[in-house]
Amino acid sequence: MPQLYTSLLRKLLFAQEAEKMHEYALITLRLLGYFKPVCRVMEKFNQVHGANPIKLFGINFPNMVGLAAGFDKNGESMRSLGALGFGHLEIGTVTRHKQPGNVRPRLFRYPEHEAIVNRMGFNNEGAEALVEKLTKYTPPGKRRIPVGINIGKTKKVPIEEAVDDYTESFNLLADYADYFAINVSSPNTPDLRKLQTGSYLPQLLGALTKINTEHAQKMGTAPIPILLKIAPDLTFREIDNIVQTLIENRLDGIIATNTTIQREGALANITETGGLSGTPLHARSVEIIKYIYRSTEGKLPIIGVGGISDEVTAGRTIDAGASLIQFYTGMVYKGPFLARNIARSQVWRHSDWV
Ligand SMILES: Cc1cc2nc3c(=O)[nH]c(=O)nc-3n(C[C@H](O)[C@H](O)[C@H](O)COP(=O)(O)O)c2cc1C
Repeated sequence: MPQLYTSLLRKLLFAQEAEKMHEYALITLRLLGYFKPVCRVMEKFNQVHGANPIKLFGINFPNMVGLAAGFDKNGESMRSLGALGFGHLEIGTVTRHKQPGNVRPRLFRYPEHEAIVNRMGFNNEGAEALVEKLTKYTPPGKRRIPVGINIGKTKKVPIEEAVDDYTESFNLLADYADYFAINVSSPNTPDLRKLQTGSYLPQLLGALTKINTEHAQKMGTAPIPILLKIAPDLTFREIDNIVQTLIENRLDGIIATNTTIQREGALANITETGGLSGTPLHARSVEIIKYIYRSTEGKLPIIGVGGISDEVTAGRTIDAGASLIQFYTGMVYKGPFLARNIARSQVWRHSDWV
């Protein structure tokens, strides 16, 4: 089946403009989601027997493999995506206000590198529209697989007002998130990455922790796990500062990494601006995960993402210290069964250890 995708279907799909292909994929998945019996068949087909479930920051994940943010920004295809063998989905990035994103074309494939460059710029329907979708979806705690919500800054909001923008999105979406991913690392929103450094980060995380505690007290529940998603283009010193701030604000984990703006060596021919993802990102992402794991003695949960495209790259990311993994670009090049295949490969890998 995967061979069918990489040979035939991929050729057909790659003849389309990249963003058009993504739109077709989302429409197909959304339509499938309306047919519950079809989804149940898909679930059965993609079931991962004997998967290693993992409990992390109080959440039960049926397997380690998740969908990275950006694929389903508006939460429109959760039901069918959830039937592909994933152990969790991260939807978004969603912003407080609806926005169109950058001008097209803004998504580029580089099959010779198994890479993508995107400068989408958080095109999304906004937090309120996502609330509307999520009210019709299974609530947290009753879902077959957890759903994380990735939130980012609205482009028109100046960086000095970013805290309010994030906290408003958080408040709107708090009743629907199994966890929150705070995106301060997309390269396509001016100034966004500045939120990773200086006094911005403690201010933002402090405010989010505060409203999270208040929300938990009001609801009589545990606080919602909050993770920070970081860029791969940080220095180790900057990473040290970020990790320190995460620990001080009792954040639940870190997602490493987002896309890169680096174009080294053979990538110099990739001239489109934006974030690069896929195979060329893998080594740097693994290096960062390893660094964080070692410097925190494994005490800070890490979701590893960047260039995972098969069981080898998945295994390398886990060996570096990731408790959960995610991918986006891998699915574009390897097709819709990648989650199931990687999750199954981890079953075999773990059974070797016992
Ligand atoms: C087209 C595209 C859009 C993306 N949009 C987002 C986004 O909205 N929010 C986010 O946190 N990451 C976004 N990402 C980054 C991915 O979540 C992921 O961190 C990155 O692509 C590295 O993983 P990969 O090599 O498996 O794609 C996007 C990636 C791609 C390719």
